[in-house]
Amino acid sequence: MKPIKKIAVLTGGGDCSGLNAVIRAITRTAITKYGWEVIGYIYGYAGLYENDWVPLTIESTSGILHQGGTILKNSNRDNLFNYMTKDATGKKVYKDVSDVAIANLKKESVDALVVIGGDGTLTSARDFARKGVSVIGVPKTIDNDLPATDITFGYDTALGVIVDALDRLHTTAFSHNRVMILEVMGRNSGWLALEGGLAGSADVILIPEIPYDINKVAEKIRARDAAGRLFSIIVVAEGAMPKGGEAVIREIVEGSPDAIRLGGIGNVVTQQLQKLTPEHEVRYTNLGYMQRGGSPTHVDRTLGTRLGVHAVDILAQGHEGNMVCVKNGKLSMVHIEDVVGRGPMGETSHGGAKVVDPNGEFVRIAKAIGVSFGD
Ligand code: F6P
Repeated sequence: MKPIKKIAVLTGGGDCSGLNAVIRAITRTAITKYGWEVIGYIYGYAGLYENDWVPLTIESTSGILHQGGTILKNSNRDNLFNYMTKDATGKKVYKDVSDVAIANLKKESVDALVVIGGDGTLTSARDFARKGVSVIGVPKTIDNDLPATDITFGYDTALGVIVDALDRLHTTAFSHNRVMILEVMGRNSGWLALEGGLAGSADVILIPEIPYDINKVAEKIRARDAAGRLFSIIVVAEGAMPKGGEAVIREIVEGSPDAIRLGGIGNVVTQQLQKLTPEHEVRYTNLGYMQRGGSPTHVDRTLGTRLGVHAVDILAQGHEGNMVCVKNGKLSMVHIEDVVGRGPMGETSHGGAKVVDPNGEFVRIAKAIGVSFGD
């Protein structure tokens, strides 16, 4: 690889707290430690295609550590290997425009690209690496579902939002003897629901990994009533499903590498439970994008900074084609080829998403303190 003089950064997929910490760390390390120039593409891969970028400097990345979102903006639907354009008649046409992006990198004399994103964004990073682009990946997701890394930034902040919401819902649950249901994100993995539910003292936690029986959930509520605890708190992961049933699809996002969006199962559980427990008012809240926004926790700021510095360091050491990660608490790296690539239903070529083990420690602990999983 030729000596690096200039790198570019982009953020792709959904936003999450901690992205700015990574951008800031990459920029500072590249400039201060290695003397490189840094630019940032706007709106993820769309910016790379349009050659829309801004210089990233110590000044332009100052004062952003505490801010949620990404100063570079995000897009969750711009796969340049299958990019939606319109033909002369206005009809949508999908085509591979990756060569335009590569030409833009050459035009700007960019020697390497640091891509911050989830599975879809990093899958494109892999495809650019296959075409000879020097790429480093930085994993991002609030869902904690990437198997290659112990932890991702954004998860801790999202958990904090969930716990805060549960604390608030508790007061109404108690005051009205209600069953309060909170739906949380997480795609096909139940980590946010499980860890958030545990910390927020949920009585029932429904996750995709343990399909539920609604009658068992109603039994749990009746058992609490019988014990004099006249309210109940239920956390439902957006990917949760009944035994023998399927997850609820909210929408299909055309052009997105992970097209399926889940959501709405909390409402289904509410309707079913209201019939089974008419003595209670059952109420539903979908926490939605609250989980992705806001100021990152100190955990996510530190993690984002560590990963950003490490991304530049491994690039300087010639490890392009890798994704930075945390393994057993230590900064590490893994080849992008080995960790990304998700099919239309969320299936992967690398052993699947990191999901909750129904017999693992977290579930065991939750069950030991009386949490029901509806199983
Ligand atoms: O992967 C992060 C995440 O927030 C998921 O938890 C959720 O299912 C999805 O993104 C929502 O995506 P969008 O912003 O496209 O609705």
